[in-house]
This record gives sequence, structure tokens and C-alpha cells, in this order.
Amino acid sequence: MTGKAKPTPILLLLLLIFLSGSSSIAAKKMMRPQPCKNLVLYFHDIIYNGKNFKNATSAIIAAPAWGNLTILAGLDHFGNLVVFDDPITLDNNLHSEPVGRAQGFYLYDRKDVFTAWLGFTFVLNSTDYKGTINFAGADPLLNKTRDISVVGGTGDFFMTRGIATVMTDAFEGDVYFRLRLDIKLYECY
Ligand SMILES: *[C@@H]1O[C@H](CO)[C@@H](O)[C@H](O)[C@H]1NC(C)=O
Ligand SMILES: *[C@@H]1O[C@H](CO)[C@@H](O)[C@H](O)[C@H]1NC(C)=O
Ligand SMILES: *[C@@H]1O[C@H](CO)[C@@H](O)[C@H](O)[C@H]1NC(C)=O
Ligand SMILES: *[C@@H]1O[C@H](CO)[C@@H](O)[C@H](O)[C@H]1NC(C)=O
Repeated sequence: MTGKAKPTPILLLLLLIFLSGSSSIAAKKMMRPQPCKNLVLYFHDIIYNGKNFKNATSAIIAAPAWGNLTILAGLDHFGNLVVFDDPITLDNNLHSEPVGRAQGFYLYDRKDVFTAWLGFTFVLNSTDYKGTINFAGADPLLNKTRDISVVGGTGDFFMTRGIATVMTDAFEGDVYFRLRLDIKLYECY
């Protein structure tokens, strides 16, 4: 009399709904389009530290009450806002011929985790590409890769959209870092 209960029709129905739901999610993922353009670019940020005015490519322009505009604040830099005008290169060498500038800002938005938010434009002016690509998104810096959105573009990147995978390619204290962007565009005109 203590045999296991057979699955009731209701349970079977729920299982069926669950399975069809998850398989349609899988199907949707499989139906994602292929990128129409792939680009890998690097940009280089030299943070002003009170001594490198000549070389610095970024500046702290806002700090919380417990910080200042020379040194990034404690508590994971929470509350700092940094504006940058960084050279973009095709390889990981700061001294390579730049193909454009990365211009925009990053801000630190968590007290308990080292994380940032990015909003910037690639202004490209090389023989290969002329135009702009606009990026926005959360940047959890401790993750090896982070995906941000390509929200638009102009010129050779007219009305584009896509995803850029961000990797910290080098990090030297609070003075220099280099990001590698693996840009996949899904709308090209
Ligand atoms: C600034 O950049 C130049 C050229 O790359 C380099 O020689 C110099 O050491 C840098 N100065 C500082 C203070 O980082
Ligand atoms: C900025 O803050 C840092 C770290 O708290 C401190 O060492 C430095 O003296 C401050 N600089 C100025 C100009 O207040
Ligand atoms: C792009 O490069 C060309 C050639 O070097 C230059 O004449 C032009 O002013 C540049 N445009 C921008 C927006 O930087
Ligand atoms: C970042 O890494 C953490 C821990 O590995 C993970 O839980 C989280 O989902 C990641 N976030 C993103 C946006 O990739």
C-alpha cells in the first residue's frame, strides 16, 4: 500500500509545459543571427595621478564627499566619475599608430564590489574605418569578460547595433589599463 504515487496527469502536463518552454528558449538562442561584422580593437587609459599631467588621457571629474579629484576613492572607487579621451589601436601596443579615440566616461557604482558603468564612443578615423560606434553597459571589472551593448553608430557604422565583449588586457595599478574589445555587429548597412 506504500508504493510510489504515479505521476498524475496534472504533473505530466506541467512537465510538458516546462519542457516545451525551455526547448523554445534553446531554439530562440539557436536562432540568434550571425554577426555581419567583427572587429577587435584595444584602447589605452592613462589615469591622472597628480604627477602625469602630460601623458594622462583621463581625469576624475567627480568624487564622493570622502574622496578627491586626484586619487580614486576608497570603497571600490564608489562615486567616482572619470572622463577619458583614449587612443584606440589595432594591437595591444600603446605606442602603435592610433586608428581613433575612445571618448566618454566610466563611473564606479558599487561600494562592495569593484564594478563600473561605461558610456563611450569610438571615434574612428583611419583608412579602414571612418565613423563612430556608441557603447553602453555595466562593466563588472572582476569578470574576465563582460558584455556591453553597441547602441548605435554613424558613418561606416550607420545605425549599427551589437555586442562588445570587454576584457581587461593589462592593468597597472591605478595609472594604466588597457581594454580589449571584441565587437560583434548584428546590423550593418
Ligand atoms: C609619457 O609618455 C612618454 C612617451 O611614451 C614616456 O617617455 C614618458 O616616460 C611618459 N611620462 C610619464 C610621466 O609617464
Ligand atoms: C586625495 O586623497 C588621497 C587618498 O585619500 C590623499 O592621499 C591625497 O593627499 C588627497 N589629495 C588631495 C589633493 O586632497
Ligand atoms: C580624419 O583624418 C583626416 C586625415 O588625417 C583629417 O584630415 C581629418 O581632419 C580627420 N577627421 C577627424 C574627425 O578627426
Ligand atoms: C561575473 O562573475 C560572477 C562570478 O563569477 C558571476 O556570478 C556573474 O554572473 C558575472 N557577471 C556578468 C555580468 O558576467
